[in-house]
Amino acid sequence: MKLVKLLANLGYGSRKDAQRLIRSGAVTDDTGHVLSANDLPPHPMLRFRGEPLDPPSPLLLVLNKPDGYTCSSTDPGDTIYDLLPPRFARRNPGLNPVGRLDKDSTGLLLLTDDGKLLHRIIHPKSGCLKIYHATLDRPLDGHEAALFASGTLVLNGETHPLLPAPLEAIGTHDALVTLHEGRYHQVRRMFAAAGNHVLALKRLSIGGFRLPDDLSEGDWRPLTAEELESIFQ
Ligand code: URA
Repeated sequence: MKLVKLLANLGYGSRKDAQRLIRSGAVTDDTGHVLSANDLPPHPMLRFRGEPLDPPSPLLLVLNKPDGYTCSSTDPGDTIYDLLPPRFARRNPGLNPVGRLDKDSTGLLLLTDDGKLLHRIIHPKSGCLKIYHATLDRPLDGHEAALFASGTLVLNGETHPLLPAPLEAIGTHDALVTLHEGRYHQVRRMFAAAGNHVLALKRLSIGGFRLPDDLSEGDWRPLTAEELESIFQ
């Protein structure tokens, strides 16, 4: 790939913008040597105005999603893309959430520009279970675990029963729910079917990868290779 195309794909601007940036000397290697459009040293050596160039595709990020942000790139309100550098919304290929969270849900959100990886993670056959912490309006009454584990629960407006979803009560109003699939508003609709109402919902893990304790709400970072592996363990 040429340097112009690389900069454009990473969202630094149009191809024309990228050509201008290169001509202005904004792109150097790690020794400060100004690059021309024909140069393309290995990615880790590339600098833009002295800062490392954004990571190349394929990219996999973890974001600790706060309440009130939608996962849509077109929503007029606050979106998860507002939490990332503006350049990231212009990348090609684009970054997509790996299993959306509702506007009011929080916690672990993975984003990737690798379509194959995305499908590998979200496909029920991959076995990447998702664990949610639900805080409820009314106390658990003890029948929810059997209902969710039954494999016969059909959500309002649907015809196919849900896969069994283990529930562990961790308080009178709090439960961990493990999902093998990701249907629209699934956890909220499951508790509605059980006669309850979800007040707060946080995703804690996807496969073997847990939301990192040191990642504050609204913060994000790329996953390490080991963390990517851990998703499938
Ligand atoms: N289930 C829901 O109801 N909402 C989410 O955001 C995720 C799972």
